[in-house]
Amino acid sequence: MKLRYLGHSGVSLEVAVGGRGFEVVIDPFVTGNPKRGVELASLRPDYVLVTHAHGDHWGDTPALAKEHGATVVGTAEVATYAGGLGLRSHGMNVGGRHEFGFGAVRLTPAWHSSSFPDGTYGGMPTGMVLEVGGLRLYHAGDTGLFSDMRLIGRLGLDVALLPIGDNYTMGPDDALEAVELLEPRLVVPIHYDTFPLLKQDAAAFARRVESETDARCLVMRPGDEADLEALLAQPA
Ligand code: NI
Ligand code: MN
Repeated sequence: MKLRYLGHSGVSLEVAVGGRGFEVVIDPFVTGNPKRGVELASLRPDYVLVTHAHGDHWGDTPALAKEHGATVVGTAEVATYAGGLGLRSHGMNVGGRHEFGFGAVRLTPAWHSSSFPDGTYGGMPTGMVLEVGGLRLYHAGDTGLFSDMRLIGRLGLDVALLPIGDNYTMGPDDALEAVELLEPRLVVPIHYDTFPLLKQDAAAFARRVESETDARCLVMRPGDEADLEALLAQPA
């Protein structure tokens, strides 16, 4: 399974299931992102997963879903909003899990807020646990640290995408605590450096993850790609 980092909290996953290829995009914020790592035209999603309605996560969802007929997955409120724009959508809520063609999605709590750029209420902010390509991957969305991350960790996480930008979300210190609760095999920091307010030393965070926890840490620059199976198969 290929993971591509779009920049900010955006990632694209490419996976083959039963001979069919799927592209799943999470929180695509490309247009207007000063640190974008990809061109919007390089994304061809079958599904667009949205952790919450803020503009830096909802982002290019309408354009991508319209162009490619992708299904928008998020809270009931996010799905209703997408449906109102004429987009295909699937609404869920915190604690629920659903099987899609590419794998399963479970919505997890996130301590944050969620409203669309036009002020419409977006429901609860969420994180997401994906079961895809034989791996379990947690995208925390925007959140502060919370102790129930321990429960998410009990699912057995291969990969955790965690915000480290501080101010609106966890900073590096709390993200390190999150790694201890989640116990993933691999950590990928997100939601930092996009704007001056979110400036962080990701390399320093990675060194701390690797010296203070059992997890490995992969710092991705916007546009970077990683083969997750190959990466996880390497000895620590
Ligand atoms: Ni947000
Ligand atoms: Mn955000």
